[in-house]
Amino acid sequence: KKILVLNGPNLNLLGTREPEQYGHTTLADVEALCQEAGARLGYAVECFQSNWEGALIDKIHEYGRLYKAGEALGCVFNPGAYTHTSIALHDAIKGVDGLPVIECHISNVHAREAFRHHSWISPAAAGIVIGFGVDGYLIALEGLVRKYGR
Ligand code: DQA
Repeated sequence: KKILVLNGPNLNLLGTREPEQYGHTTLADVEALCQEAGARLGYAVECFQSNWEGALIDKIHEYGRLYKAGEALGCVFNPGAYTHTSIALHDAIKGVDGLPVIECHISNVHAREAFRHHSWISPAAAGIVIGFGVDGYLIALEGLVRKYGR
C-alpha cells in the first residue's frame, strides 16, 4: 500500500527558508527520510509538493480513489499557509470521504502569529502533529500506520 507525503506552498524552500523557524533540512532530505521510514513500516511513500492549491486538491482526489481501491493507507499533509486560508482543501479531504489525513506542521503554529492559530484543515484531519520540527513528518507517518495500518 502507498502513503502520500504531501507538502504545500513554500515548503520547496525548506532548508533555506527562515531556518530559525523551519531548520536547515531540505525538502529532498525530508522526503528521503519519509521514504526510508515508510519502507521500514512496510509502505511505499510517494512524495509530492506544490505551490498550487488546485494541484494539492487533485492529489488528494487521486489518493481518495487509491484509498477506496484499497491501494493507499493515508496521507501526511503539511498544507503550509493554505492551512489558514483554504476551505477548498478542507472540502477536498471531506470530499474523498475516508482517506485518513494527518496534518503536520514543522513549527508550533500556536506559539506564532495569531493568523496561524486557526486551521481549516484540522476539522477534516484524522490526527495532527505540530511543533516537532521536520521530525514531525516521521512522527505523523508512524502515527498514521499505528492508527490505521495492519
Ligand atoms: C507551516 C506553518 C504555516 O503557518 C506556514 O505558513 C508554513 C509552514 C509549518 O510547517 O510550520 O508554510 O505549515
